[in-house]
Amino acid sequence: MPAYFGLDIGSSSIKILKLKGNKNVEAVGMAVNPVGRSDLDLPVEQKTKLVEAVKALIKESGVKSRNVVLSIPESLVFSRILKLPIMSTPELASAIKWELDQVVPFPPDEIEISWVVIDKPKKSIGNEKMKVFVVAVPKKVSEVYVRFLTLTGLEPERIENEILSLARGLSGFTVGKGVSLILDMGASFTKMVVVEKEQIYLSHVVPLAGMAMTRMISEAFKIPINQAEEYKRVYGVDKSQVEGKIYNTLVGLMDSLVVEIKKVMVNFSNTEKDKRIERIVLVGGGAFLKGFTGVLVEKTGLDVVMGDPFGTIEVAEKIKASGVVFATALGLAIGE
Ligand SMILES: Nc1ncnc2c1ncn2[C@@H]1O[C@H](COP(=O)(O)OP(=O)(O)OP(=O)(O)O)[C@@H](O)[C@H]1O
Ligand SMILES: [Mg+2]
Repeated sequence: MPAYFGLDIGSSSIKILKLKGNKNVEAVGMAVNPVGRSDLDLPVEQKTKLVEAVKALIKESGVKSRNVVLSIPESLVFSRILKLPIMSTPELASAIKWELDQVVPFPPDEIEISWVVIDKPKKSIGNEKMKVFVVAVPKKVSEVYVRFLTLTGLEPERIENEILSLARGLSGFTVGKGVSLILDMGASFTKMVVVEKEQIYLSHVVPLAGMAMTRMISEAFKIPINQAEEYKRVYGVDKSQVEGKIYNTLVGLMDSLVVEIKKVMVNFSNTEKDKRIERIVLVGGGAFLKGFTGVLVEKTGLDVVMGDPFGTIEVAEKIKASGVVFATALGLAIGE
């Protein structure tokens, strides 16, 4: 039984989850993020507010453990799959360093690098490559997170970029179903990751998500943000609602998002010639957007399904129904 719990601080809501064994949720909860940001590099007053919100959520949800696994927003880290000639571990360390030097805009002593080998052909005949998933976190960023946890009275067990936890949280759902494109639409960012079970092929993050939609509605109809949020939740991007007015307001953003999805599809088919993406697995609060599935099916030609991270895990019906928002928190709680 993991002694730690998962904490996913999203820009609109904080999620917490602790497992008991593999099949039971011991504690779970969600609360509004009072500062509306997830980068944690905050002025003192806001930081205090967020610390209090996290503490209250821990208490309310009944988590007793102090040990936490926390996710860092994908937008603050550099992660990519490197394809390298087959080599030994020590050689790999310097090859990765060299490769990252070319792409990461930070001096080598200001980043922390971690990696996992995701595919290593047994022996090299010809020019087979090994695939390594590499993550570089600026030291400044991880320090901010560790300091935040200290303020909250928590012990960091591990801090990881959210793509990893997202893929892990949904691995029970995606297993045995070919290649899936997980699309996590939150408030600030849409995270995309192409997976086959737990293997990650590629990821992509774009700042086109729920909050941008709400702002567009607010501007188009000259209404306050909270009312625009309400409109979005009631009418979604369903063309048949209010004469298609909300759909028309949001279709530009949808199209831009589809362009990004197609980039991912092209990238994938260029690197994995004998595989194809079978479906989009929708998660995050944006998955609740009415009509979104239909728009994605129409514009991408892929199957689109709602992700269910809980699958065979026992959890209260209410939480199961909002499973899409807990995918990352569950992945954090499951552990490596
Ligand atoms: N019923 C609904 N219809 C449309 N959108 C919804 C609905 N419910 C929630 N949302 C949207 O989902 C978003 C919040 O989702 P989520 O909790 O996954 O985000 P987050 O994790 O806080 O954000 P991020 O990951 O971008 O930092 C908000 O923009 C909210 O408007
Ligand atoms: Mg999120």
